[in-house]
Amino acid sequence: MRRGIFVSIEGIDGSGKTTLREELIAYFEMKTEVVGIREPGGTEVSEKIRGLLLDISNHSMVPRTEALLYAAARSQVVEELIEPALADGKMVIADRYLDSTIAYQGYGRGLDLQFLEQLNILCTGGLLPDLTLLLDLDPGLARSRVSFRKMDRMEGEGLFFQERVRRGYLDLFARQPERIRLLDASMSREVLFEQAIAMISEMV
Ligand code: TYD
Repeated sequence: MRRGIFVSIEGIDGSGKTTLREELIAYFEMKTEVVGIREPGGTEVSEKIRGLLLDISNHSMVPRTEALLYAAARSQVVEELIEPALADGKMVIADRYLDSTIAYQGYGRGLDLQFLEQLNILCTGGLLPDLTLLLDLDPGLARSRVSFRKMDRMEGEGLFFQERVRRGYLDLFARQPERIRLLDASMSREVLFEQAIAMISEMV
């Protein structure tokens, strides 16, 4: 059986990933079997780890613990969901994957990038998405989108943090343009959706 296609969606908080993921899943479900995932989370164990990571009362959590917990949640979702789905020929659409760790724990928190790259390989077995859609947006604009909902521990980090994360994503894009495609997330929902469909359809 032909291996499935793995698409991840990345971007700072409030860049519109979740909406795009839902629209893409609804669209591709009409054509093929799709597994939608959001990180951290997606399995029983990873959702428990997600609770620890996003709980605002965990303000004493140090960056290395944070990185290891994201990696732990990812190991679980790769082995339990992503690998079996791809082996079954299904399409996997993930809201965040390993680039988030480089952007947030590397550029955002300042952890060593080589350490994080090794951690990413360790927790995924080297599994990379076939395509990564990077939603790029000014953090100020993104903040105005999330300000109405209750902020979690990561979203509460402030604008400078999100600026560094954005820089991290843009550096990743500059280094891996064959895998990562840049989308201007200030465009309308409809245009973003159409561009994303076109990019994914090139691979199917
Ligand atoms: P989530 O509610 O999924 O945020 P969003 O809807 O913006 O994707 O929360 C995930 C948070 O975890 C988000 O602030 C980014 C952060 N994160 C990391 O810092 N490192 C990671 O490796 C991952 C997967 C997420």
